[in-house]
Amino acid sequence: MKVISTIAELKADLALAHENGKTIGLVPTMGALHEGHASLVRRSVEENDVTVVSIFLNPTQFNDKTDLAKYPRTLEADCRLLEQYGATIAFAPSVEEIYPEPDTRQFSYPPTDSVMEGAFRPGHFNGVCQIVSKLFMMVEPDRAYFGEKDFQQIAVIRRMVDDLGFCLQIVPCPVVREESGLAMSSRNTLLTDAERQTASHIYQALRRSREWMEQESLENVRQRVVAEINAVDGLEVQYYSIVDGRTLADVSDWNESDDIVGCITVYCGSQPIRLIDHIRYKG
Ligand code: PAF
Repeated sequence: MKVISTIAELKADLALAHENGKTIGLVPTMGALHEGHASLVRRSVEENDVTVVSIFLNPTQFNDKTDLAKYPRTLEADCRLLEQYGATIAFAPSVEEIYPEPDTRQFSYPPTDSVMEGAFRPGHFNGVCQIVSKLFMMVEPDRAYFGEKDFQQIAVIRRMVDDLGFCLQIVPCPVVREESGLAMSSRNTLLTDAERQTASHIYQALRRSREWMEQESLENVRQRVVAEINAVDGLEVQYYSIVDGRTLADVSDWNESDDIVGCITVYCGSQPIRLIDHIRYKG
């Protein structure tokens, strides 16, 4: 596996692959790799001749600079893992390489980017679109792999791909969970063992809520999930929205759509760490 840090070298390396008609898979990451990333990389390796994994902690998607400062950075360990997973190229550029000038482009895909994470983290999805569009232009992949844990992110990126006419396939990959049910995330490393245990109540409540939907209204289920999670010491729900899985617009009745997903963000622990998860009710 090659570790590349400049766009020029990346493009030179990929030019040959493009010329020879090789298929290219891209796995964008911010590093601090875990089993969730492993599943994306392994899938890309299975489905493509060349797999590029980008490791770039993108500053433009962090509206909260303390969140950026405490994000785990583990480049050497990440490269060792990528070698094991079978990646062809690890692309780990500097911030100056990616943004020699401030990126002033504005992306707007409401409601996908304006609700939930978009409402609570203003500018977040604009930053995601900035970096992901740059990576798509640099790598020109046939397929790009994203974890479904960031359910809303995939919906926003799909809108951007349609808008800008990128010719590639977005491949959503299932959430990988710890044994306790907690969705794997780079942020989990910031939790103590006890907090990890506490955080597992999030998915447990989401799973139980699928049983309640038979008898209860959508709004009751929504409120019950929030109440159950808030009752756990150390957890505090920021929002729980039940939305159409395609448009991400709120739904108010179980019969309103054939694709219904509940998306949650919860603060966990004393720091506190912001965790996101989701559950599919229909579709
Ligand atoms: O999901 C992430 O890790 C990031 O948002 C992404 C897609 C790598 C862009 O920085």
